[in-house]
Amino acid sequence: MNILHIDCSSRPESQSRQLSAAIVNKLLEIVPGARITRRDFADSPLPHASADYAIALSTPATLAAPPRGSLELSEVLIQEVEAADVIVIGTPMNNLTVPSVLKAWIDQILRAGRTFKSTPAGKVGMLQDRPVFIGIASGGVFTGDRANQPDFLTPYLSVVLDCVGLKTLQFLSVQATAFLDRDQATLARDEALATIDFTVMQEVRCS
Ligand SMILES: Cc1cc2nc3c(=O)[nH]c(=O)nc-3n(C[C@H](O)[C@H](O)[C@H](O)COP(=O)(O)O)c2cc1C
Repeated sequence: MNILHIDCSSRPESQSRQLSAAIVNKLLEIVPGARITRRDFADSPLPHASADYAIALSTPATLAAPPRGSLELSEVLIQEVEAADVIVIGTPMNNLTVPSVLKAWIDQILRAGRTFKSTPAGKVGMLQDRPVFIGIASGGVFTGDRANQPDFLTPYLSVVLDCVGLKTLQFLSVQATAFLDRDQATLARDEALATIDFTVMQEVRCS
């Protein structure tokens, strides 16, 4: 089994990193020999879409004959997704949505004719579905009765990953990190981990 493990936080004490690491550890309990491909977008951020990449994506004609090398990074990142049986993403909520380092990855993996078909009804995913576990850390609260802000992170990721065919998503979160001490954060992480439904892994292990 291959796990693609992505982190986005630049904070050493990052709660989303601890959450994603804990999810990966749980997966390793299920499949001890799993291989891990690591992408740390804080340590090694992806570039924003280059001019050549933007030119390539601008029309069907340029996509059919893209500037030399313009799709190389996109291809590497898409192939990492294709090679993964399961994807684990640790991400902060930044200004109500995903941080720009994660958006830079999204910009590379959504590519017409490669990961989605453009149809009159919208984008139709071309990748095989697989489980995606998303561990979120937020300074404030974005779910439930105590929510004090809108959530453009989970709906956005749901829609954008669906565009490429990734539909089996599970969101976990440690919220109100601004107000949690270490013990409270550990408790919140354990509570989040307890909500994971690992039955989705049965299909992965059987395939
Ligand atoms: C630029 C920036 C924007 C942020 N925007 C939000 C926000 O909109 N909502 C929120 O609840 N927390 C926000 N935060 C706080 C982070 O979500 C919080 O510190 C979180 O724990 C960071 O993730 P980490 O613990 O994995 O580093 C923001 C932090 C930064 C640096």
